[in-house]
Amino acid sequence: MISQELDLKILVTGANRGLGLGFVNYYLNKGCQVIACIRNIDKSLYLNSLFKLHKDNLQIEILDVSKETSLTHFSKKVESLKFDIVINNAGICIEQNLGSWSSNTFEDIFKTNTIGVALFSQIILPLIKPHGKLINISSGLGSIALNINPEIGLDAYAMSKAALNSFSRRLANKVQSKKIIVLALSPGWVKTDMGGEEATLTIDEAIFKLGIVIEKLTLKDNGKFLSENGEELPW
Ligand SMILES: NC(=O)c1ccc[n+]([C@@H]2O[C@H](COP(=O)([O-])OP(=O)(O)OC[C@H]3O[C@@H](n4cnc5c(N)ncnc54)[C@H](OP(=O)(O)O)[C@@H]3O)[C@@H](O)[C@H]2O)c1
Repeated sequence: MISQELDLKILVTGANRGLGLGFVNYYLNKGCQVIACIRNIDKSLYLNSLFKLHKDNLQIEILDVSKETSLTHFSKKVESLKFDIVINNAGICIEQNLGSWSSNTFEDIFKTNTIGVALFSQIILPLIKPHGKLINISSGLGSIALNINPEIGLDAYAMSKAALNSFSRRLANKVQSKKIIVLALSPGWVKTDMGGEEATLTIDEAIFKLGIVIEKLTLKDNGKFLSENGEELPW
């Protein structure tokens, strides 16, 4: 059922499951045009069934944000489009305790969560309309000030999101004159493959909250780090 029609073009990365798929569903139900970016078509059964329901509004594109060849290929597919909202959602989280840290783990996490977001943003920024929004899905773990659960092995992940926050803040300044809003947005703790069953929010609950925050954003919010409730988080 379409609750409130929105005539917007939205792009979501990491769209085949979890929060990414939740965003796709949410915006399709609002009547938006959605470009869902996934890295493996064989792992997107649900997205394929959504496509049957929303043929005219859903476009599926292949994108692995950690691979420059994929980014280059993708940029050619979308170069003629203009977007209202782009959601940098793709992310990975690997838990590794002090004593078993490896450079591979740190590199893999940074390649997707930080470098991938920066390089993807570089491609997509010229395609965002004035007053459009670039949403970087961050995490409370990215807050150095909050320093959530330092005893657990989510160090590489937390560092990657802290770096993503820094990137968001810096990018926000660079795009100020273009009147684009760049934001670091924490989704809360959500029941996805990454968040696990213990998490406090269902995907639908989280996406509903995030959808409201995103809708209400104005140029005054450029460069902020917000929670799923729209509250400012400490860096
Ligand atoms: N769930 C939480 O509690 C929570 C809390 C704070 C922040 N977050 C953030 O929210 C975002 C979504 O998380 P989630 O919970 O929905 O995680 P998820 O269920 O594990 O889904 C992650 C998504 O990212 C995609 N992805 C991973 N690496 C990618 C790459 N290199 N290129 C393109 N896509 C890639 C995955 O695709 P494949 O299916 O191909 O692997 C999948 O679609 C992430 O940025 C995460 O850090 C989540």
